[in-house]
Amino acid sequence: MRVVSGIQPTGNLHLGNYLGAIRNWVRMQDDMQDGEQCLFFLADLHAISMPHDPAELHRGTLEMAAAVVACGIDPHRSILFNQAQVPAHAEMQWLLNGTARMGWLNRMTQWKDKAGKNREGQSVALFAYPVLQAADVLLYQTTHVPVGEDQKQHLELARDIAQKFNNDFAGEDTPVFTLPEAITPPQAARIMSLRDGSKKMSKSDPSEMSRIELADDADTVMKKVKKAKTDPEPLPSEAGGLVGRAEALNLVTIYAAVADTTVEAVLGEYGGEGFGKFKPALGELLVETLRPISTRFNELLDDREALDAILARGASQARELARPTLDATYSALGL
Ligand code: ADP
Ligand code: NA
Repeated sequence: MRVVSGIQPTGNLHLGNYLGAIRNWVRMQDDMQDGEQCLFFLADLHAISMPHDPAELHRGTLEMAAAVVACGIDPHRSILFNQAQVPAHAEMQWLLNGTARMGWLNRMTQWKDKAGKNREGQSVALFAYPVLQAADVLLYQTTHVPVGEDQKQHLELARDIAQKFNNDFAGEDTPVFTLPEAITPPQAARIMSLRDGSKKMSKSDPSEMSRIELADDADTVMKKVKKAKTDPEPLPSEAGGLVGRAEALNLVTIYAAVADTTVEAVLGEYGGEGFGKFKPALGELLVETLRPISTRFNELLDDREALDAILARGASQARELARPTLDATYSALGL
């Protein structure tokens, strides 16, 4: 089993990024058996498909790398790298562009959503993005790719490209590419803003009080939880009692996600209590959980050499793993 997964490199990382994305990677890594392997990459090449600020992309890539390591990705067990440091991704995409069909890409719902009515104004990269995703997984003879609902179509495309390429250019008994299977990532919590239960917790929210950041110290975390928007009612003893109470539901959801339990179990303990009691408990739980993460995160960001060394090592391992498939692809194409 070989699993490959990428993440958008963004900065100002918050609790939503941790519980909704990074923690799943750590779980995947921890579930690997002997002889199995995870490759995790920061999708910096993907980021240039949309208008972007180079300095921000660079900073976001480093921040995400630091966060991922701080949250428990062990660069000695998993291979962690950024895409741009492994040129095989961009090379393979070009080689696969000969096999991918315009019609296949035209049908991608994400392309249709992102381009909207202004297709002519989009970058070629935005259109061809799913071919780069195919390259990301096919390069490593990946057997399994964790994909959410919104990415299923892109994995199907990767399989179609692999199949057509094998068909057109490889001998029946010597396929160049493995067809990757989708695996459903563990159900991740969706964390809402601390100021407005109808909005997702997000780095782009102008209010810093709306999110808990991975770099926040203990006092800041306690303050943000204390100031979080709530209602005057005590917590119900059953989940049904949280219907129509988005902010209360969010705080209980955060507690359950961090403690790795269910909303029902949290209500079993705190049902009947007011927020005067629940908020300090939630704050302390967050502080305890985030302290080692924020300490390591800030250390890594202060020690750029250590961080660069982790990424350089991961990139060199990835380049080595990609080499045979890249060579076989060139060769099959007569290049
Ligand atoms: P933001 O919304 O802060 O801009 P991104 O869009 O950069 O975050 O998301 C990076 C990753 O973190 C994605 O995998 C996304 O699903 C996850 N994520 C972001 N915000 C949340 C949230 N509020 N709850 C759960 N997961 C989230
Ligand atoms: Na976003």
